[in-house]
Amino acid sequence: MAHEDIRYTLLTLLAVVLVSIIVTKRRRRLLPLPPGPPSLPLIGCFLSIPKRDAFMAAAASVTLAIAYGYKVAPQGDSLVEMLEESAKLAIEATLPFASAVNDIPGLKYLPGWFPGMGFKARAKHCRTVLHEVLNAPLEDVQRSMADGTAVQSLASELLKANEASGGGAEGYDAIRDVTGSVYTAGAETTSTAVNSAILALVLHPDVQWRAQAEIDSVIGRDRLPDFDDRASMPYVDAVCREVIRWKIVNPLGLPRRVRSDDVYEGHFIPKGALLFPNTWAIVHDPERYPEPFSFKPERFLLEDGSLNDDEVQMKFGFGRRICPGRHVADASVWIMVSSILAVFDICHAKGEHGKEIPIDETCIDGLVSRPLPFECAIVPRDAKAATLIRSLA
Ligand code: HEM
Repeated sequence: MAHEDIRYTLLTLLAVVLVSIIVTKRRRRLLPLPPGPPSLPLIGCFLSIPKRDAFMAAAASVTLAIAYGYKVAPQGDSLVEMLEESAKLAIEATLPFASAVNDIPGLKYLPGWFPGMGFKARAKHCRTVLHEVLNAPLEDVQRSMADGTAVQSLASELLKANEASGGGAEGYDAIRDVTGSVYTAGAETTSTAVNSAILALVLHPDVQWRAQAEIDSVIGRDRLPDFDDRASMPYVDAVCREVIRWKIVNPLGLPRRVRSDDVYEGHFIPKGALLFPNTWAIVHDPERYPEPFSFKPERFLLEDGSLNDDEVQMKFGFGRRICPGRHVADASVWIMVSSILAVFDICHAKGEHGKEIPIDETCIDGLVSRPLPFECAIVPRDAKAATLIRSLA
């Protein structure tokens, strides 16, 4: 089988395994709490670790469990740190004008000591990080399969299938890339979406109050939301949709290379050209989304308060390369946002003399567009919420 075919077969298998894992988990109700490191679920995290780490730990714990059955340590997990480093490098490398060698490939022939050749050392560092990030967790799965301690994961299922079908080293390489892409593609994107939700909520307290009122009226104050509550809380869903429309995670999606010369609406597109879908423009189209830069969850609600049918699907890409983790992503963002809202108020942080620290809502450019770090306070809503949080930590 050609390498390309193996990859597509594995991606299809990936989609099937992802869906079956979600369905099984939902059936067995294994997700009563928001996802997070098992010993310290997301809500508990906020009491003890910085919020940026809490988002990442929660998002990574979902994708790493799916990909490798890996359990994330509550703090300072070396794989999560490596993952963050690789995401940072990927974002930097895809910034416009990230490196002159992208535009002038001939530069790669100059020696490393030549002025301006810093990209060579960066490329070497990227290779080392990528090698580690792709290989280390898969080797762990192989070891645990050999000693009989492996838990079910995408990697263990694919490795078993590869062995049964005699896929050999070529199959192994494809499995390494596919499982690696699950968690590299899933953790940074999901944590970015939750980060943007926090930004939206701190800037729009009215939205926060309305969402909290809805949650309180549906589930009361003695527990966190779970997936069965979702259909009864359309406003919270509308908030999640608006978050990703407002600060689209992948503003230019992922590029496609054109296989043959083409003409589109009079524009000649030569074979080999790299095309970026301008998703950002679609979700900021003023005809489709009036006042596109305003944060307005109600644009996703019908007059009777129920959700309309616009799920902003393009946030997950298009065609056969559409994000295979979209259902996991959608569920993860919803459970994190609704759980945070159920027990926390998100407010402006106060600086000297009790003055609010202003927030810059700019996002960094790149493959994944994340809000610049901002200060805010995430505090239990009241004594009742504090008691619930403590019971979960
Ligand atoms: C809010 C969170 C997420 C967003 C916004 C997002 C968005 C995207 C987008 C735009 C693409 C490119 C699709 C295309 O080329 O048309 C993509 C690809 C991908 N995503 Fe996601 N994603 C998210 C979460 C996840 C999660 C949780 C997983 C895994 C559990 C995942 C796994 C993948 C993989 C493996 C690919 C590459 C597919 C391929 O190469 O064909 N994503 N995602």
